[in-house]
Amino acid sequence: MRTLLILSALFMLAACGGQSDATKLLQIQIDSLQKKLNDTYKPGLGEFMLGIQLHHAKLWFAGTNQNWSLADFEVKEIGESLDDIKKYCTDRPEVKSISMIDPGISSINAAIQKKDLQLFKKGFIELTGNCNGCHKNTQHAFNVVIIPTALPVVNQEFKPSK
Ligand code: HEC
Repeated sequence: MRTLLILSALFMLAACGGQSDATKLLQIQIDSLQKKLNDTYKPGLGEFMLGIQLHHAKLWFAGTNQNWSLADFEVKEIGESLDDIKKYCTDRPEVKSISMIDPGISSINAAIQKKDLQLFKKGFIELTGNCNGCHKNTQHAFNVVIIPTALPVVNQEFKPSK
């Protein structure tokens, strides 16, 4: 009986030793995965903003050409970038102000729904004001967004297809 006890104690010790080796190995794997995660490329806030800038300009030409399908697509692209910012730019305190853009997005959506050019133009001015409002709020007032004065690209049709 005594021998059995000693034997099972030894066995448990060995088992514990084995487990801690496995735990160490797992920890090494976790550390290396963590390092890979930390080194994964994530676009920065400025890169998302460049994308939003382009969609903002395309939205203007889609809407003023009453190409409502394209306008709807462009405003959704802005929405996706905003979602990505919330997901990937959590290290940027400015992101707390991101909902400042919501009223402009809602107005644009309403105008697209009603296919109303005048409402669209009003909504676009509001949206652009929201962009600048957030820039002011986040010490980036020098980034001034305006209503586009020229086509942002020359290789895309903005008029609705017949
Ligand atoms: C969180 C509030 C916020 C909102 C809303 C916002 N921006 Fe920005 N924007 C920023 C911040 C912060 C920066 C600076 C990013 C950086 O550090 O690179 C920026 C930068 C920019 C830049 C400069 C990018 C460059 O590298 O030249 C442009 C252009 C821009 N935003 C356009 C827009 C447009 C267009 C809208 C609206 C459709 C908009 N932004 C809405 C906060 C915002």
